[in-house]
Amino acid sequence: MTDAPDLASDIVTPDPEAAQAYRIRDWDEVAGPAADFRTFWEDRAKELEWYEPWHTVLDDSNAPFYSWFTGGKVNIVHNCVDRWLKGPTRNKLALIWVSEDGQETRTFSYFSLNREVMTWANVLKAMGVSKGDRVTIYLPRIPEIVFAMLACAKIGAVHSVVFAGFSSDAIKERILDSESNLVITADGSWVNGKVFELKNIVDEAVRHAPTVENVVVVRRTNTEVTMDPLRDHWFSDLETLPIAKGQCSTEVLDAEDPLYILYTSGSTGRPKAILHTHGGYMVGVYTTLKYVFDLRDEDRWWCTADPGWVTGHSYLVYGPLLNGATSFMYEGGPTYPYPNRWWQLIEYYGINILYTAPTAIRSLMRFGEAWPNRHDLSSLRLLGSVGEPINPEAWHWYHRVIGKGRCPIMDTWWQTETGAFQITPVPSMPLKPGSGGKPFFGQEAEVLDEKGNPVPDGQEGFLVLKNPWPAMMRTLYKDPDRYVSTYWSTYPGKYLTGDSARRDADGYFWVIGRTDDVIKVSGHRLGTAEVESAFVSHPAVAEAAAIGLPHEVKGNAIHAYVVLRVGYEPSEDLEDELRQHISRHLSPIAKPDQIDFVAALPKTRSGKIMRRLLKARALGQPEGDTTTLDD
Ligand code: PRX
Repeated sequence: MTDAPDLASDIVTPDPEAAQAYRIRDWDEVAGPAADFRTFWEDRAKELEWYEPWHTVLDDSNAPFYSWFTGGKVNIVHNCVDRWLKGPTRNKLALIWVSEDGQETRTFSYFSLNREVMTWANVLKAMGVSKGDRVTIYLPRIPEIVFAMLACAKIGAVHSVVFAGFSSDAIKERILDSESNLVITADGSWVNGKVFELKNIVDEAVRHAPTVENVVVVRRTNTEVTMDPLRDHWFSDLETLPIAKGQCSTEVLDAEDPLYILYTSGSTGRPKAILHTHGGYMVGVYTTLKYVFDLRDEDRWWCTADPGWVTGHSYLVYGPLLNGATSFMYEGGPTYPYPNRWWQLIEYYGINILYTAPTAIRSLMRFGEAWPNRHDLSSLRLLGSVGEPINPEAWHWYHRVIGKGRCPIMDTWWQTETGAFQITPVPSMPLKPGSGGKPFFGQEAEVLDEKGNPVPDGQEGFLVLKNPWPAMMRTLYKDPDRYVSTYWSTYPGKYLTGDSARRDADGYFWVIGRTDDVIKVSGHRLGTAEVESAFVSHPAVAEAAAIGLPHEVKGNAIHAYVVLRVGYEPSEDLEDELRQHISRHLSPIAKPDQIDFVAALPKTRSGKIMRRLLKARALGQPEGDTTTLDD
């Protein structure tokens, strides 16, 4: 996916007339010098409502534990919901949702969104949830996931959303780590016309997670489930109780009070619990969406991500609501039942901005232009891409076939850790297909060599960010040492992204991929360690190594090397069984494309698996330095 782009010649310039109309015409116009990022962010924070103002914009006295808008009192839900209840915006659509089969549409004005969130918040309180408590949410892409997240935030509880494709082991691990007392789930979810049995998966997880006292279940697929009378409650029963009715006030919080934790894969060991807070995250997400996508009152915004990932958190749930926009949410994927589903939805609902992942674009490209060409896509104004590098071929297809050459593509680079866009174009600037553009206002990025010196333009190196930003994670939940060692110790004072990149002479950044043991499969982030530990939990497996190899649609596919225990023989059946095992014990997205049975794995003398060597061999590339290789 990193086909060396011709940096110099492939430039798409904006239509001059359209460029005039965009909110941002010039980076410097709003931002001033990057060094003055405090003023820039303070001005943006003033565009939102605070119960009490901050006394310090940025407190860096305990860096890298930064604190933003210190002293301020706020609640993100006040700015997502409460503020829009005054005046005409109370009747504006906040959310339009369409079911996977396309048969059901549910719409919520800001007024009715508030009612739903209050009901959920009342229910949570009745379940004993209070400020600071963690709540695990394992729900499909249905409006209730939005309500549940906002309800937690409203009462000051900390949500921990687990993507509803993860296995019971993965949920269990996240429940135990976050010490959640409450899990919110559904009977099932619809995945390409079939039911994925969420409640059964939660039952299995909760069996080994004794902290859980209550499980709230939303009915979605009418699947038969077992309800533990003391522990499990249908939401449809709870919402009819008197306690669920009536007003629920929004908790007044400190700007730095935690909003959520979101587990994401790292290079080693268990997933990292990224912690975000109310004040800074709110300002960062609000601002980036407003400026980069030039969001207008009349827009219908569609972020196709699942709320189980950070893109869904920031740009399906919080960002659009903070901007008082109308957010579109579709339960299904891009190609079911036919590869025109998305184009049909864009036409029918008049979507103006589509924000999706390169993997989805590549999978749709395979079906040819006839599918999108059957639909009127003229409502589209802007397009977006996120999650992995977009190859220029897919970029141009997206631009020409979907955007009809009119819609600039915002290729936004960011991470679970950064909370909001960090490197991105704005619509008025010339675009270079495959490049994420330039650091966002107030941010400065660098590409460094191993010693920490900037490499010359055009050369590959380690991507770092230089300035703190409001939406940055505050720490790793319960693991501040790992926060410092993972992100801030390699180049003291600079944030290590874990990505490799190049900068060109025009200051555009070209992200190449991860430099650590993180694999991006269809834009989803997986750690080699998680895949390997899922493998060795199978009785036949003694040892395993996982690597990512380039894949035409998925970006990367998992390729695994497995050493079997004595008494087991390689076979196709065993290969299938292992694939199913990974799917069940980690997630279907982690299913390896290929499994090779080997006698031994290449290791360093200190016993570390040399994945780099496996990758080089698989790709037929030079093996590099192998002096540390054990016999
Ligand atoms: O490698 C980069 C890639 O996704 C990683 C972050 O993954 P995650 O925390 O799951 O967040 C994904 C959605 C924000 C990054 O370290 N990545 C993300 N966006 C881009 C990207 N790579 C290239 N171009 C992008 N636009």
